Amino acid sequence: MIRRYVYGNVIETEAVLNKPEQENGVLPYFTVDEQAMTLSYTMEDKDQVYGLGENVRGINKRGWYYESKCSDDPEHKEDRHSLYGAHNFLVVDGKETFGIFVDYPGIIRFDVGYTRSEELVITASDWNLDVYVITGENVKDIVKQFRHLVGRSYIAPKWAFGFGQSRWSYMDEDEVREVVRKHRELGIPLDSVYLDIDYMERYKDFTLNNETFPDFAVFNEEMKKEHIHLVPIIDAGVKQEEGYDVYEEGLEKGYFCKKEDGSPFVAAVWPGKALFPDMLNKEAREWFGNKYQFLLDQGVEGFWNDMNEPAIFYTEDRLKNVLEELDKFKGQNLDLDKYNEFNGLVRSLSNNTEDYKVFYHNMNGEKIRHDRVHNLFGYNMTRAAGEAFERLEPDKRILMYSRSSYIGMHRYGGIWQGDNKSWWSHILLNLKMMPSLNMCGFLYTGADLGGFGADTTEDLVLRWLELGIFTPLMRNHSAMGTRVQEAYRFEKIDGFRHIISMRYKLLPYLYSEYMKAVLRDEMMFRPLAFDYPEDRRAVKVEDQLLLGDGMMIAPVYEQNAEGRYVYLPERMKLVRFKEDGTKEEEILEKGDHYVEVALTDVIFFIRPDHLIPMAKGGQCVDEVDFDHPECIGFVENAAEYEYYNDNGYEKDYENPAHITVLRMEAEK
Ligand code: NOJ
Repeated sequence: MIRRYVYGNVIETEAVLNKPEQENGVLPYFTVDEQAMTLSYTMEDKDQVYGLGENVRGINKRGWYYESKCSDDPEHKEDRHSLYGAHNFLVVDGKETFGIFVDYPGIIRFDVGYTRSEELVITASDWNLDVYVITGENVKDIVKQFRHLVGRSYIAPKWAFGFGQSRWSYMDEDEVREVVRKHRELGIPLDSVYLDIDYMERYKDFTLNNETFPDFAVFNEEMKKEHIHLVPIIDAGVKQEEGYDVYEEGLEKGYFCKKEDGSPFVAAVWPGKALFPDMLNKEAREWFGNKYQFLLDQGVEGFWNDMNEPAIFYTEDRLKNVLEELDKFKGQNLDLDKYNEFNGLVRSLSNNTEDYKVFYHNMNGEKIRHDRVHNLFGYNMTRAAGEAFERLEPDKRILMYSRSSYIGMHRYGGIWQGDNKSWWSHILLNLKMMPSLNMCGFLYTGADLGGFGADTTEDLVLRWLELGIFTPLMRNHSAMGTRVQEAYRFEKIDGFRHIISMRYKLLPYLYSEYMKAVLRDEMMFRPLAFDYPEDRRAVKVEDQLLLGDGMMIAPVYEQNAEGRYVYLPERMKLVRFKEDGTKEEEILEKGDHYVEVALTDVIFFIRPDHLIPMAKGGQCVDEVDFDHPECIGFVENAAEYEYYNDNGYEKDYENPAHITVLRMEAEK
C-alpha cells in the first residue's frame, strides 16, 4: 500500500507519474517537525536501512549521514555524504518494515543513526515535500511497489551488454582502430569504444574535431562492420563562442539558465566559459534533445551524459572576486593560516554551493532558483536525450547513461558510478551500490572497471572484471594521466580473454534477468537479506549479492588474495570456470566456506533447483547465440527457468513470445 502526504507547495519533479490521492491524516511511523523541517523515526537496534541509491558506505545505510546533493566529487571516500545522484528512497526493515520516498528536488539530509544511533532523521532545506510511505509483505514487495510508482526502468539495446573499452581520451581514429584491432587479434571480445571529450572540436557539444575524426560517419560505418559501436560523451555546458550554432541559437531563444537580472549565467567547464541549457524548461529540453540528431545522423547509437550535476570549474563572477582577493597575497610570506586561506580561496572556485544560488530556471513559466531544484538537472539533461530519441528514432533502442541523476531519470537512461579510483575498496563499493541503485530504478549501471583515477595494477583490473562481467554496464574506463589499463596492456592476456569471454557466455542469463527485472519492477541485484530475512547471518552479509533468479556472486576484492570466505544461506553449487577452459563444480552446504579463487577464475554459486542459461560466447554480442541456450544448473529434483529473449533492438518488450520455459530434471 502506498500513501502520499504533502507538505507546503511542492515543486513537481515528475518522478512519480500517477500520483495517488494525498492523505489527510498524520504521517505514519515518523514524527513531523515543521519548524525544524524534519521527519524522524526511532529505530530498533536490529533495524536495517536500505536504499539511497548511489552513495558511499554499506548496503545497510545505518551509522552515517547522507545528503542528496548531486556532486562532482571524484573522491569516493567513506567520509563523503553525496555522490552524483539524489535517490531519496529508503526502506527500514525490522520491527516495522516500510519504505519512504521523499520526492523533493532540493538538498536533503538523511541521518541514519549518525547523530543518535537510534534516530533516523530526514532534514529538508525547505518545507515543500511530497512524501510516499509504502508498506507491504516484505522488503522486496515494498521495492516492487515503489518501482511501479516511479515507472518502468530504461531498457538498453542488447549490444550495450557487451564489453566496452574507454579512456579519457582516444584522441583520433587511429587510436580507436588500434583498440579494436588489439582486442580482435587477441580474441578478447569487444562491442563498444567510448569517445571522451577530445573527439569534439574544443569541447563543444555536437561538434566533431575534423582533423582527428575527418569523416565520422564513414569511420562509424567502418567500426560497425567490425561490430563496434562508438559511444560519444555529451557535456552539460555549452561553450560560449560566437559563431558556434548551439550557443548562438540557445542564446537567441533564451534557453540558457539566467541570473537574477536576466543575463545568462556563465560558468567554466572544459571549454572555458560555458552556459547551461535550462534542462528544466520543457522547450529548452526539447531543443537540446534535438541536438543529438547531429550524431544520430552519423550512425551513432549510444551516448553518455557527463558533468551534469552540473559541475562548475568556476563562475565568471567568482573568479573575478577570487583573483582580486588573491592579489593581496602577492609578496607575502604565507604562514599556516595564510596558506590555508589562500588554498581555501582557490578551492572555493569549483562546485561552490553559493554559485548554485545565483542562477534560475524557467519551469513552466515560473522562475525558480537553481539550488531549490539542484538535483533535477542531470535527470532532465538525460530526459532531454531520452525524449528526443523517442521522437527521432522511435523504433530503435539508443544507449544512454548519465553521471548525475534523480529518481525519474531511471526511465530515460542508466548511470555509471562516476570517477572511482583504482582502489581495491572500490570493487566493494561498486558491488554495494548495485542493489541500492536497483531499488531506486537504476538497472543499467556499472562502475569504471579497473578504476578511473589513480594508477591501476593488473591484478586489480582482473579482479574487478570478475565482478564487472555480471553488471549490465561493463566498461573499462580510466582518466587521463593514469596508467593505461586496456586488457592488452598487461601480461596475462589469456586471463583477460577468459574473464571477458565469460561475460559473453553468461549473456543469455544476464540479459534475461535484466529484462525480467525491468518489466516486473524487480531488482536484478539483491542483498542476501532480501531473500533470507530470517537468517541473521545472511542479513549481515555485505560482500556477496544475489543476481537474478538463481545465482549468487562473491567477488574477490583484496590484493594478493587466493580466495575468500563466502557465507552460503543454503546449500548451493559452486561453479568455477578456469582459464584453461575447464569447469569445476562442487556442492557446498549452508554455512561459512573458504573458497579458493585463482587470479583468473570466474566463480559463482547456483541455488538449489535453479538453472543458468548460457551460450558458447562470441567476440561481440552479435555472435552470441541467444536462441539455443545451454543450461547449467544445480538440480536436485527438477528445475525450471523462465528465459526472456528478444532481438535486443526492437521495443516490443511485452510480447509473450519472448519468454520460454527451460527445464531440467535431476539425473537419476
Ligand atoms: C568526468 C567523467 O566522470 C569521466 O568519466 C570523464 O572521463 C571526464 N569527465 C572527462 O570527460
